[in-house]
Amino acid sequence: MSVSRRAFLSAAGATITVPTVAFTRRQALTPPSSGSLDPWIEVNAAHLAHNAAEVARLTGRPILAVIKNNGYGLGVEPVARVLAAQPGVSSLAVIKVDEALRLRDAGVSAPLVLMGPVPPDAYDLLLARDIQPMVYTPVGDALARAAARTGRPARVQLCVDAGLGRVGVPYREAVALGRDLADRGGIELAGTMMTFTEDEAFDREVLTRFLSVVDGLRAAGVDPGRRHAASSYTLFQLGAEAHLDMVRTGMVLFGVYPAQAFRAAGRMDLRPAVALRARVAYVKKIEAGESAGYERAYRATRDTWIATLPVGHGDGWPRAAARGARVRINGRHFPVIASVSASHTLVELGDTPAAAIGDVATMFDWEEGSRPEDVSAACGASVYDLLMHLGALVPRRVV
Ligand SMILES: Cc1ncc(COP(=O)(O)O)c(C=O)c1O
Repeated sequence: MSVSRRAFLSAAGATITVPTVAFTRRQALTPPSSGSLDPWIEVNAAHLAHNAAEVARLTGRPILAVIKNNGYGLGVEPVARVLAAQPGVSSLAVIKVDEALRLRDAGVSAPLVLMGPVPPDAYDLLLARDIQPMVYTPVGDALARAAARTGRPARVQLCVDAGLGRVGVPYREAVALGRDLADRGGIELAGTMMTFTEDEAFDREVLTRFLSVVDGLRAAGVDPGRRHAASSYTLFQLGAEAHLDMVRTGMVLFGVYPAQAFRAAGRMDLRPAVALRARVAYVKKIEAGESAGYERAYRATRDTWIATLPVGHGDGWPRAAARGARVRINGRHFPVIASVSASHTLVELGDTPAAAIGDVATMFDWEEGSRPEDVSAACGASVYDLLMHLGALVPRRVV
């Protein structure tokens, strides 16, 4: 028989024991505003700088830093400021028009590439704000008119589809489009780009196709600008021939290996630049036979202490965490149990109340055992989901 939420809560209320501890322990880590138990995100600026230096060391190429989707969840503005200041980073890339404008409004002046779709009537605005659109359709007329109207050159990125099949001019038609753009006054190819498929064997063919486009452009007297394609995967899957004139990476800059297999490869020393923390909101003992969570997802086989954390999938902490992730509290790791709800997570403390209300709980950070890759390996959530789904309203602070 299924139990309603309310019936369960009142039944549980009769059996809980709550320790009388509140905010008395000294904490090494503090939340953004005193007294708050709410989750917060830390952005580790030194680790961002370290990772950018690692990418530069490995590739010897300038970096087009991909900071789309709110800076991979870290917060697009703080991340842009830190990364744009790194010697290896030449430019920044986002996907959404609003995100690009927000960076300009915030005073970020680094070269900025917009890799998402743009309606031609937005070209004036983009050129006026010195934002480089990615183009792959015959928009030469609209671009040339916008350049004439604004008195600003249309610096664009020619996007070639050499196998991914997502966006981009088909590689067989790319030279014709590149010529059409470059032959018009006011339009300049700042770069020619494509995206690998992350199928290692096929990507060698994809690279060959792309290089044939570049050769074709040059043979037609068109300067392709900087050639770029390599994402984080590429740095582990392919060799230096794929680095071209510039690498276009996101995840590695945030210090996270894009796949578990790459972690052991030893190619790069990446340091996670993000932490998700909250404070323990509640600690109680439930008795053997009692349950916790919606649909009684957890059943206690013996008397067990449980901590409630005020963080859930509404903050970006994935539901999958209940399938094996562990949370660090006071230097120890405790399993996530029951199910992760929108605003709450339950962890099993064991036979003793090993945590107290107000203690800092770390969902992930840069310590071994708590890295995003560790959470991913334990519960199957992709590291891209762990970072990019972090709630926009969770406060960020740069540490
Ligand atoms: C077009 C494009 N280039 C580069 C990247 C960076 O990828 P990664 O985070 O795997 O380095 C992305 C992100 O998904 C992208 O969409």
